[in-house]
Amino acid sequence: MKFFLDTGNVEQIKRIHRLGLVDGVTTNPSLIAKEGRVFKDVIKEITSFVEGPVSAEVIGTKAEDMLKEAEEIATWAPNVVIKLPMTEDGLYATNELSKKGIKTNVTLVFSAAQGLMAAKAGATFISPFVGRLDDISVDGMQLIRDLRQILDTYNLPAEIIAASIRNIKHVEDAALAGAHIATIPGTLVPTLWKHPLTDSGIERFLKDWESVPQDAKPPM
Ligand code: E4P
Repeated sequence: MKFFLDTGNVEQIKRIHRLGLVDGVTTNPSLIAKEGRVFKDVIKEITSFVEGPVSAEVIGTKAEDMLKEAEEIATWAPNVVIKLPMTEDGLYATNELSKKGIKTNVTLVFSAAQGLMAAKAGATFISPFVGRLDDISVDGMQLIRDLRQILDTYNLPAEIIAASIRNIKHVEDAALAGAHIATIPGTLVPTLWKHPLTDSGIERFLKDWESVPQDAKPPM
């Protein structure tokens, strides 16, 4: 499973990117608003060092406006992906952009039927929101499983981005459920490599090492 970072914060992305763990980035209007910076500047800075797909979302709700924004955003970097909402207008724009070879990410997907439509419209990526479904007591991970089965059955090339990821279990379950990608908040990723037994294990090794005679240790 590929790792995307779900953030507009460049420092968070750089921290994880240096570990070779960033396969792409997703943003949305809320994440961009948090940064208090110019949208284009944020996307241009991220695409200057992230090699994989970087999603930038349109604001328009009419297909015509979405397409106008998409044409502009697509000039910002070769790896930029146009993120569009799962609406009738969004599907139309997705289809138009896919005919032009422009990559798209259909967002705010909450049912398998919506995901299937996005795939058939030519979406490159589909983003089912796991956490927000869990919030309303619907099993978000089941949607990932169902959608993966549908895409595989009909050989639809769209990739599933498990989105609205809230915790470590979501990441593990998304991988098991067959998500091609999980987009993970920048603040959550460092918790993925942490484990209390790792920390206490290191502590014990270092303590035991103190009892090894100095001349039995390699020179430091
Ligand atoms: C997906 O691309 C969205 O940016 C994101 O995952 C939304 O997550 P949230 O429900 O935590 O806002």
